[in-house]
Amino acid sequence: MRDNEFEFIRGLVYERSRINLGPDKRELVSTRLGKRLRATNSSSLGDYCRLLQSPGAEEELGNLIDVISTNHTFFFREQAHFDFMRDTALPEMTARMRTERWPRLQIWSAASSSGEEAYSIAMTLATHVLQTPWHIEGTDISHRILAEAKRAVYATDSVRNLPDALVRTHFQRGFGPQEGQIRVRPELRDRVNFSHLNLLEGEPAFREPFQIIFCRNVMIYFDRPTQEELVARLTRRLMPGGYLFVGHSESLTSINHKLRSIRPAIYQRPIGS
Ligand SMILES: C[S@@+](CC[C@H](N)C(=O)[O-])C[C@H]1O[C@@H](n2cnc3c(N)ncnc32)[C@H](O)[C@@H]1O
Repeated sequence: MRDNEFEFIRGLVYERSRINLGPDKRELVSTRLGKRLRATNSSSLGDYCRLLQSPGAEEELGNLIDVISTNHTFFFREQAHFDFMRDTALPEMTARMRTERWPRLQIWSAASSSGEEAYSIAMTLATHVLQTPWHIEGTDISHRILAEAKRAVYATDSVRNLPDALVRTHFQRGFGPQEGQIRVRPELRDRVNFSHLNLLEGEPAFREPFQIIFCRNVMIYFDRPTQEELVARLTRRLMPGGYLFVGHSESLTSINHKLRSIRPAIYQRPIGS
């Protein structure tokens, strides 16, 4: 990959997603672009870069972000967040809900990838919040991964570490041609809405503030000014007293923010702020 090609791709990816590709990502970019070169019949990387600059390249720009971004995720990733939600955040929020008359609990899985995080939140709520209405929003920049999240079909292997009772309650097993796959049951799927959102662009259309926001394992791809901007945006969407969960390798210590640190990777918007 030539220097100018890497710089071009790097600039475009930053402009579109704010993902910051350092020089150490050159090999990775080159490997991942191979797929797009084949799919677009480009004979070289130069050819592909020209395609990206041509009018009508919008769809391919989306495909580019798709192959560059990492979608790795799994059910109940970073279990400590789900334990904190069950033991602390949900009891606090359901108590406030009764006195403050919110219509429902609202939780946001920002950068939801293929949906495992949002459905893990949904399973936790379905198990522990019985008398209170709740709703989950899942968003991601990738249209392809959002289609997977909405379909909610996963390899049976992906739930091998979950308790049997939880799997039986919330998943349907596939038979025949669907052997080896499981699908989240419609009762749970109906309570999770997935939509497209670039976290750093425009304003999300949500009207109600969130009691809890999960924004995990995406900030590591951003530079410091972008992380700061993102946390400010998320804070505005959080209700006072609400919680923000970030990935365990994503401490906010090096950026300016208005949140209170509660535990590693758990922050709270101060009440009255
Ligand atoms: C590694 S996954 C994290 C999934 C999940 N939150 C977790 O922790 O398991 C990162 C996700 O961030 C998404 N992403 C990257 N840049 C984004 C942006 N600017 N706005 C919204 N989503 C973005 C990617 O498409 C990808 O699905």
